[in-house]
Amino acid sequence: MLAAGKGKRMKSDIPKVLHNICYQPIIYYILTSAFKLNPKNLFVVIGHKAEKIKEFLSSNFPGAIPVIQENQLGTAHAVSMLKSCSGELGDTCLVMPGDIPLISYSTLRKVANTMEQSGNPAVVLTALVDNPYGYGRVIKDDKSNILRIVEESDASESEKKINEINSSIYCFETKPLFSYLEKISSKNSQNEFYLTDIIENFIGAKQKVSCISVQDSFEIEGINDRVALAKLEKIMQSKINETLMAGGVTIRDPGTCYISAEVEISRDTVVEPFCFIKGKTKIGNACVIGPFTQITDSIIGDCTKIYNSVIIGSIVGKANNIGPSSYLRPGTQTSENVKIGAACEIKKSRIRKNSKVPHLSYIGDADIGENVNIGAATVTCNFDGFFKNKTVIGDNVFIGSDTMLVAPVKIGKDAITAAGSVISVDVPDNSLAIERSKQKNIENGALRFREKKEKQKKET
Ligand code: UD1
Ligand code: CA
Repeated sequence: MLAAGKGKRMKSDIPKVLHNICYQPIIYYILTSAFKLNPKNLFVVIGHKAEKIKEFLSSNFPGAIPVIQENQLGTAHAVSMLKSCSGELGDTCLVMPGDIPLISYSTLRKVANTMEQSGNPAVVLTALVDNPYGYGRVIKDDKSNILRIVEESDASESEKKINEINSSIYCFETKPLFSYLEKISSKNSQNEFYLTDIIENFIGAKQKVSCISVQDSFEIEGINDRVALAKLEKIMQSKINETLMAGGVTIRDPGTCYISAEVEISRDTVVEPFCFIKGKTKIGNACVIGPFTQITDSIIGDCTKIYNSVIIGSIVGKANNIGPSSYLRPGTQTSENVKIGAACEIKKSRIRKNSKVPHLSYIGDADIGENVNIGAATVTCNFDGFFKNKTVIGDNVFIGSDTMLVAPVKIGKDAITAAGSVISVDVPDNSLAIERSKQKNIENGALRFREKKEKQKKET
């Protein structure tokens, strides 16, 4: 896989193949398809910002072996970087660019199969397109045998009219590939060593080159600039959504939902418009997600409903009701039938079966038992400016509205806290904790207050 190029037209400090579409780097997709072929080895030629790509490879595709191309002198030069390890390539090898994310496994498989079945020492994957501008054109003889490939900048006016283009995906017998590479010169308009020139070497040696055409030409579209990045993201987005829909998921307005390829969603779940679901996320059966929901790296149990909320790094149980406008931060774990209502923030907390945090609360570093009701605007004061402290709440507890739970603090089971209390001392089981000053009612005080104020107003 060739991925050493600068990607000049991206005008970026990030290497081209690490730009994202649908939350994954461009190169992620073709690597995923290529690894499905079960290659003996997979080498990735990198150069421009090599360290960043190396980092991505080692944490996401540890089987991919990086090979450095210090100066990017062209695609043929890039392949020649593998000369010293050509022994590890096997008898035949596939060559592909890193910047065509839409290529499918089945197309790569077809190229490999053609190599095996044709008995020819080389196969080129081409495509018929309406607008061949920018691509290498495939020149054939009158019997439709490929003769050579000419790049846009070297093509004559009549060659430019050819609409069969080179995909940059090839299969070669390894031995002739490396011997012909040495013969390639950089005498062309870009002074680059073109891999495309290798075709003429095979033909010149009276060897046949197979040429197969890809069915859906969008598969071989490359990304060279930000316009293409946006275009291919749209296509990838619909591919991912269509795969989910084929598996029984309803996506009401697919054009507005961005879901990454590794997300799993079970049948009869409905994804409402404007949802963003990514990372290692798994969503169960018959859920309702959204509208306006973002879920990252989370597990969502069956029959859970989530409205207009953000969920990151959390495990949500079955039949939960979440939102609108709630924020579940990493380390949140809920059991069955939990309600996290409107405008609540939950961080690194466990909330057990049938418990409710219905309105405007902050729950952080807490362990909440079963059948607990947390009154509106309750806050776990978990941070004292130096340390994060835990709040533990037992089963069947009723926390009154606007309770401040100053952690570390423990509320025993079946206890009640009175509304507006600041609880900084542990509450034993079955106790009622009240922490507020005694109320005083002044008889007719409201009347006197109004009289006084009205008089003041007249005088000013
Ligand atoms: C290349 C083909 C062209 C084809 C098109 C399909 C050549 C000369 N041209 O053109 O016929 O239609 O792909 O997309 O091969 N790279 C390196 N090292 C280098 C140069 C490039 O690793 O020295 C890598 C790039 O990172 C990229 C791939 O090779 O992933 C293709 O290079 P790019 O410059 O994009 O070639 P195109 O001009 O698109
Ligand atoms: Ca390209």
